[in-house]
Amino acid sequence: MEGSIDVLPDAEALARAAADRVVRRLHNVEGPVAVALTGGRSPERLYQLLATEPWRSLIPWDAVHWFWGDERFVPADDARSNARMAIDLLLDRVPVARDRIHRIPTAVATPHESARLYEEMLRHFLGRPTLEGPEPLFALVLMGLGDDGHTASLFPGQPTLEEQSHWVVGVDEAGMEPFVPRVTLTFPALASTREMLFIVSGAGKRSALERIQRGEMLPAARARSRGELVWLLDRDAAPEGLQAD
Ligand code: 6PG
Repeated sequence: MEGSIDVLPDAEALARAAADRVVRRLHNVEGPVAVALTGGRSPERLYQLLATEPWRSLIPWDAVHWFWGDERFVPADDARSNARMAIDLLLDRVPVARDRIHRIPTAVATPHESARLYEEMLRHFLGRPTLEGPEPLFALVLMGLGDDGHTASLFPGQPTLEEQSHWVVGVDEAGMEPFVPRVTLTFPALASTREMLFIVSGAGKRSALERIQRGEMLPAARARSRGELVWLLDRDAAPEGLQAD
């Protein structure tokens, strides 16, 4: 497996370790930086913690711009929306200005149109047309792992895994629930970060991790980072042989 692996005793310890890493990455940034958030259940507790002390006071809210690594193609207030979840649990509870929150737009005709618009937003934020350059796009990218080995909305067997030129693509069919179209950043865009942090919780994830450990190139195993690549697992998710600290 690429990157470093840290196994925490349980889901609460995992969320706390993730919150510590987020703060360590962001606490002394000065200029505007971008963070890509992830969806799913696993990061919910992390988002709650970041809205509370001691983490909340350590994040320079004015300097951080919040993006998403993927979104379900549903209305903005739909309970399945990844952005809605993070806004409800975190961004609505902290002193963050609206213009620092950059949702993947879903009030458009197709996920492909949404992807085109979001890519434009990301290019505008980065201020240059290419990912190559001195500064990566993101300071931090949070990632999840699906039971089938997907990450963001990059599902096994789909052509989106091979995308090299676009930063964001539409996905007509999700490989897992909820079965709604998706919009996802591609591997090259996700890799343009100082740190990629996987947050993986629960026994349902163990077999995907075992497959990755055996060398199967599931989507999550193909994720790379220009900076650090860190996997935080709880004990239930960790394959045999990996022990909690
Ligand atoms: C999504 C996600 C997806 C998620 C994994 C893990 O939109 O569903 O971004 O990649 O991170 O499916 O989700 P759980 O934490 O709910 O298992």
